[in-house]
This record gives sequence, structure tokens and C-alpha cells, in this order.
Amino acid sequence: MPAPRIVVTRRIPEPALDLLRGSDADLWISEHDRPLETGELHQAVSGADAVVSLLHDRVDDAFLDAAGPQLRSVSNVAVGYDNIDVPAATARGVVVTNTPGVLTEATADIAMGLVLMATRRLGEGERLMRSGTPWSWHMFFMLGSGLQGKTIGIVGLGGIGRAVARRARSFGMRVAYTSRTPADPEVEAELEAERMTLDELLAQADIVSLHLPLSEETRHLIGAEALGRMKSDAYLINTARGPVVDEAALADALKRGEIAGAGLDVFENEPDVHPGLLELENVVLVPHLGSATKETRTAMAELAARNALAVAAGEPALTPVNPEVSPGSRP
Ligand code: DGY
Repeated sequence: MPAPRIVVTRRIPEPALDLLRGSDADLWISEHDRPLETGELHQAVSGADAVVSLLHDRVDDAFLDAAGPQLRSVSNVAVGYDNIDVPAATARGVVVTNTPGVLTEATADIAMGLVLMATRRLGEGERLMRSGTPWSWHMFFMLGSGLQGKTIGIVGLGGIGRAVARRARSFGMRVAYTSRTPADPEVEAELEAERMTLDELLAQADIVSLHLPLSEETRHLIGAEALGRMKSDAYLINTARGPVVDEAALADALKRGEIAGAGLDVFENEPDVHPGLLELENVVLVPHLGSATKETRTAMAELAARNALAVAAGEPALTPVNPEVSPGSRP
């Protein structure tokens, strides 16, 4: 059998490349430190048996056509896979994999970091110091909101949502959550978490933290109506996917004081940010850093490489999104 052709669409950490180099694969790695343009991407994947993709690569019918019928797997180096048309891949028998688990703690850390930055006005304070604006301590200087005794509302109690809830508990917060299915009783008991509807959560939570995937159902889930249900002293945190929030509506709500503040790691049209948000002091903006630790990015890339190699060797994928086309995989 000829060596499988594995295409890596952008540079990934060396330990993952070493795994691929250590196999018999015919390896192609993009030499650009940028996302490939659509035409370049389609040319690169032509004839590939496996593609290791990044979250900015659009994997749709055109991509699958360009790759050809021999394509067996697409391994996204991300837990989110909204860049991939999974039904289209499944229809062609292409295994799609993601990287669950390995980025849970890093992403939860960033969510909690945003909670602290937003509620304690840390970004605002830093901007003030750097601007050279005179300041002095006084009783009412830059007062924020405390967390002790407040309620965090977790929207989507998966692995990352649970990890954020655990952190919030250690800050003395009460946990409310909303999700399609109830959490395991042990998880609810551990977190003393109360399940409620989204509307109830929006009305009660002091912090609303989003931890759900992007899909047609969740696009703009948090728009003007949802923001209008939140308390005027509440904060919105988004480390999930930008389009879950209607950025224009959020900028409006923040400007009009409908909610107290927000912390965003992800944006509707990355890398662009709605100009209305850039003008505001009460929003913390960080550039999609959820999984950005050396350890986490290495673990993500290694998992993606192992998935690509497993499928190429005719073995079950480790973390398939569509296990129905990966014989032997556990759903
Ligand atoms: C993911 O894995 O989906 C993250 O957004 C990457 O940081």
C-alpha cells in the first residue's frame, strides 16, 4: 500500500509533527504562518488521505471535492468544529475528529480570568496606568463587583462549563446552569448546581458564562432579547464561539448600561471586533486565547496527529465527532 498522504494546513507544535514524521506518511506541512487562502487550501488537500486542519479552515463540499474520494479523515486541532460541515464529511465516509478534554482547564482559566478582569475592572485599570492619567487611592476609586455569594450561570454544562463552575465555587459563588439534558446527579451534587431554563438563568445570574458549541440553534442565542433579560449589574463572558453572541446587540446593551460588563475571548468575525465594542470601557477583549498555553496547544496538536495516524492505519479514531464512520470508535 502506498504511504498515506497527510496534509497539515498550518504549522503546529513540533512534538505533534514529530509523531507524524515518525510514521510512514507522505507529509505535507504548509510553510506559511497564516491561514491558507481557499484556493491554496484546496490545492494543498488535493490527493490527501488525511488532513490536520485548524479552526480557520473551511471544510465544506468544495474542500471535500478538492481533496478527492481517497480522503479518510479530517482532524481539527480544536474542540470546536463549526468550521467543518460534518454531515457532508459523514456522507462521504470521512472521519472528523476534534480535541476534547485537553483544553478544558486552560479554557476554564481564561473564562475565570475574564470574570475577574470584567468584575474588578482590571483592563480599565491597566489602560489608566499606561495612559499616564493621574490617580490616587480613595474610597470610591474604580469600584467593581465582588464574586462571593453571587450566582454564575453556566450555559452548557459540558467539560469546560463544569471546570468553570468548579473555579467559581472556589470563589464562593453559587452555580446555576442550563443545558439540553440534566447533568449527572453526582456532578449536580458536587457543584451544588441548579438546572434552570435559559430565561431563568439570564434573569438570575450575576455572571452568565457561555460554554456551548456554535450551531444554527446557538447562533445569536445571546441577542438583544436575551441581553434584555439579564440583570443590569450582570456580566456576560464568552469563551465559546463569537457568533453565539450578537455583537452589535451586545455593544448596544453595554453602552446603554443594560448589563454591567462583558469579557470576550471570541468574536463574531475574527479577527475583527465590532467597532462599538472597541470604544467601551466596560468590556474586556482578548484575542481567542482560551487554549493558548504551550502545554495545551501541544496536547491538542498531538491528539489531532494521533487521530490522523489512527485512521490512516485503519484503526478507530480516538476522538471522532462522527463515530458512525469510524468503525470501532467509541461515540
Ligand atoms: C477550540 O479548541 O475550539 C478553541 O476555541 C481553540 O482555542
